[in-house]
Amino acid sequence: MTRQRRIESLIARLNEDLARKLGNIIRYNYQAAKAAGRNVEQMRQLLRAEAAEELDHAAELAELIVDMGGEPTTTPVEFDKPHCRKAMLELDAMLERDDMSRYLELARLAADLEEVELQARLEAIAAAEGRQSRKLAQAVRTMWPSSAAITH
Ligand SMILES: [Fe+2]
Repeated sequence: MTRQRRIESLIARLNEDLARKLGNIIRYNYQAAKAAGRNVEQMRQLLRAEAAEELDHAAELAELIVDMGGEPTTTPVEFDKPHCRKAMLELDAMLERDDMSRYLELARLAADLEEVELQARLEAIAAAEGRQSRKLAQAVRTMWPSSAAITH
């Protein structure tokens, strides 16, 4: 594959991730609004902070796509809407972990192209996704202590 073709395929992958980011912003916003019951304010704060971080990443991705000569998508991906709050946060933690793997894979593609700055930025986003996943999994353990592996 020519270098140009490889860059185009990387732009297409970045656009898939931008669509996921846009979906994440909407998902966290929806979840924050729907949160109810015990610890509602704590939960809203957590989810709003996640939405804000996703917006930062979406802005960075859209800029990267434009810098590389692509057209950033404006269409978000759809997402599941679990009714139970615990399932909701578990879904979020899992999706953040998936995103981490996706950005690591994209960083490897950037490394193959010797696009070092892009590689570093994608690795930084991967690290942020890992942090988000850990924070959400931690929130599940804090809010539902009985689900922790060690209970006594
Ligand atoms: Fe994320």
